[in-house]
Amino acid sequence: MSHFWRQLKKPFFVLAPMADVTDIVFRHFVLRHSRPDVVYTEFMACKALLSPKGRAPFIHHLKYTEQERPIVAQVFGSEPDDFFAGAQRIRALGFDGLDINMGCPDRRVEKQGAGAYLMRDPQRAQAIIQAAKAGLAGLPLTVKTRLGYHTIETASWIGAVLAAKPDVLVVHGRTRQEMSEAPAHWDEIALAASMAHDAGVLCVGNGDVQSREQGEEYAQRFGVDGVMIGRGVFGNPWVFAPRTERSEPEKLIALAQLITQFSGFWQATKNDGRLKKHFKAYVGSQFLRGRLMASRHSMEAIEVLSQYFYSKDGFSPIGFTNRL
Ligand SMILES: Cc1cc2nc3c(=O)[nH]c(=O)nc-3n(C[C@H](O)[C@H](O)[C@H](O)COP(=O)(O)O)c2cc1C
Repeated sequence: MSHFWRQLKKPFFVLAPMADVTDIVFRHFVLRHSRPDVVYTEFMACKALLSPKGRAPFIHHLKYTEQERPIVAQVFGSEPDDFFAGAQRIRALGFDGLDINMGCPDRRVEKQGAGAYLMRDPQRAQAIIQAAKAGLAGLPLTVKTRLGYHTIETASWIGAVLAAKPDVLVVHGRTRQEMSEAPAHWDEIALAASMAHDAGVLCVGNGDVQSREQGEEYAQRFGVDGVMIGRGVFGNPWVFAPRTERSEPEKLIALAQLITQFSGFWQATKNDGRLKKHFKAYVGSQFLRGRLMASRHSMEAIEVLSQYFYSKDGFSPIGFTNRL
């Protein structure tokens, strides 16, 4: 069946799902600077999708706008029946696709038999994929997973996922055990891609890609249809565009935009502290970084950034305020 993934020009680029990062504000912020072909929401529990009461605390995970399309909702869970109903809900909410998380190593997720835990129960994983497909009724299903649990098990684990026929396989090239530490095994991603292609499934590679150029090279070298970038977007919302050196003022203006957009959109509903993980990525000066980390809320962080601008020779304060 034809779906949007099949219509993308290859290699396509995907913004990775990142909990507490890739919310609607962050996705718009990235889209303002460079254009991934597909974006993902932060993940949410499948069970939480199934009732208005369950959804209420996560309702912001389901917010998106037309400019973000195609947008894929990522969900985790362990019950096939939940996925059937959850997939119907994702369809009704107008998303362009559903992704099942089968790689998250977070203990709270694994304790529910979900995320990376599913690698230990391939039969259940297959039942989940089939149930979700039935619920999606033609909307594309992707599975984002790793190479194995304790050790690399590409042939058996990826083989089991592919046997259930998702439309797209997203492979983060590490085991559960390796978390995000070891370098991604792109040679194994290449094996997964060739298995996927034999099964008529598209394959997206993920792990350690830092630029569009690197992604293009990897796509060619390792035979994937697309490349997903996660941490490479930290401090570099231009990552999906051809590489260009960015000056310090440009980076600081981008950070100030992120801060103002975040606080403007979420007001008091999301803690400004979540922004702190971005400061280090944008700011080279230790002095400035220290002051930003000590700021108590986003307005204070903007004040710190603007003072820094005003104090630096060659920085244009007018440019700073005009571009927020
Ligand atoms: C802060 C953070 C949050 C993440 N949250 C999720 C998530 O909700 N779902 C998911 O499938 N992966 C999640 N990941 C993993 C990324 O999607 C990606 O697979 C991983 O970072 C490797 O890609 P990279 O080297 O390009 O960052 C997260 C990673 C980070 C750094």
